Amino acid sequence: MKVKLKNVFVIYFLVSVIGLMYALLQLGQPCDCTQHLKSTSDLIHAKDKKLVQLQNEVKRLQARGKAPEPQMLPVIYVITPTYARLVQKAELVRLSQTLLHVKNLHWIVVEDSATKTQLVSELLAQSGLRFTHLHVETPKEHKRKESDPNWLKPRGVEQRNLALQWLRENRQLSDGGVVYFADDDNTYSLHLFDEIRSTKRVSVWPVGLVGGLRFERPLVEHGKVIGFYTAWKPNRPFPMDMAGFAVTLQLLLANREARFDLQAERGYLESSLLQSLVSIEELEPKAENCTKVMVWHTRTEKPKMKQEEQLQKQGLGSDPSIEV
Ligand SMILES: *[C@@H]1O[C@H](CO)[C@@H](O)[C@H](O)[C@H]1NC(C)=O
Repeated sequence: MKVKLKNVFVIYFLVSVIGLMYALLQLGQPCDCTQHLKSTSDLIHAKDKKLVQLQNEVKRLQARGKAPEPQMLPVIYVITPTYARLVQKAELVRLSQTLLHVKNLHWIVVEDSATKTQLVSELLAQSGLRFTHLHVETPKEHKRKESDPNWLKPRGVEQRNLALQWLRENRQLSDGGVVYFADDDNTYSLHLFDEIRSTKRVSVWPVGLVGGLRFERPLVEHGKVIGFYTAWKPNRPFPMDMAGFAVTLQLLLANREARFDLQAERGYLESSLLQSLVSIEELEPKAENCTKVMVWHTRTEKPKMKQEEQLQKQGLGSDPSIEV
């Protein structure tokens, strides 16, 4: 009996030691992870395949020229004359936020003022646009008074000419680009800028809400401009609105004398520039052969300040330090 108990104890002891050793050995053993590893390598393989696919897609798009780099697009120089008035900031904010959507654009803003104003300087600095800020005051004898009808004297002539001068002094014939005169009170579809971009010399298109008509437009036959749909002074050389054409930078640099004529008769301002640049047959019709309106000659109503004036008389006018 004694011997048997001792044997049982020895067997128990041995089994325990063997069990303990087996457990310790298992700690150092690698687990059977092949399943896990396999799925990881599958994932990496799939990612590699996707990467190659994407690289091929990029190559394909580059080859087809479908996604040109923005730097490759010709710059659109937008020339905007502007002058101080109650709605000036509102107009410039609206225009600047349209222009923000256009790639490779350079905004040339020219103030009709003796100095650069703080309002325009700060607006441009905060606009997020590439810009040039210029100023020139219209000579007194040519200045239109607030009370004068809008057709009496054309506005913005000296300002547009100064912008042309800036381009001639700061750009070279080898620089690509297209120049567009965009007043601050018009409404511009973004599609217009796609049309402008491909200008070869001078491109044209309809303008809405102008000349006492729903629209004015160049008349196009077989892809060529053969005349103009306009009711007012149809015998003008180029019976078109300022917003209805664009000119390449090259053409303006090659014709250094081309400019707007300060003495131009009413309605002849556009003609005064275009006459020295292009003939009607050479005009490039855009906007689906001039059948689509992409710019509107909207005019902002002059705000009435009746209450403001009354309060000012009582010394209770609105805080002049708050910019509007
Ligand atoms: C413009 O007209 C020409 C000639 O009639 C035609 O070949 C061309 O497809 C037209 N373009 C557009 C964009 O409608």
